Amino acid sequence: MTLDTTHRNRQMTHFDGHDEIWLFGYGSLIWKADFPFLERRPAHIQGWARRFWQGSHDHRGTPEAPGRVVTLVREPGATCHGMAYRITPEVLGPLDVREKNGYLREVIRLHFDDDARPPSAEGLVYLATEDNAAFLGEAPLEAIAEQIAMAHGPSGPNRDYLVNLAQALGELGVDDPHVFALAARLPARQDTRDPHPRPSSETTRP
Ligand code: BEZ
Repeated sequence: MTLDTTHRNRQMTHFDGHDEIWLFGYGSLIWKADFPFLERRPAHIQGWARRFWQGSHDHRGTPEAPGRVVTLVREPGATCHGMAYRITPEVLGPLDVREKNGYLREVIRLHFDDDARPPSAEGLVYLATEDNAAFLGEAPLEAIAEQIAMAHGPSGPNRDYLVNLAQALGELGVDDPHVFALAARLPARQDTRDPHPRPSSETTRP
């Protein structure tokens, strides 16, 4: 997949001059924040739904066998829960590179789920719209779960991404029917080790 959104993201000027920015995480950022942050708070955004509709050719799959990761799709009335991070602007550079396979920065209003102040803030989210080259779109849940079960990329098995996301959402007390339905449909992990190995004398017989 040759599309690289790094350059477009670096052209975004909306938060120029700000010394800190709220970043909303709704996928791997919920459980894996491998960047420095000043503060994190559970939060949600409105009018967006989390969907496993984005192809992953570089992290959880390969160009030949892409995996599926989450993006956001507009859905009136929907709420997407996740984790907000207060970061300094330098953090965005490495994230732009990591998420270069179709994700663009978008300005969004975050609503915090705790009682601290402020109750909401303008922030940033990375999302992959249907016009990006890696977008896979909707498919039956069984087909999506099967694809996730099979895919594997430099960042590890695609199924771990789904399982970790479902677990992190569960720990936040968030119900996300799309994510939980996919996790429930994951076929059992293929174990390549033989649980009943025969003695080597047997296996060498013709
Ligand atoms: C996230 O919120 O975890 C995320 C999703 C897609 C790209 C970058 C971050």
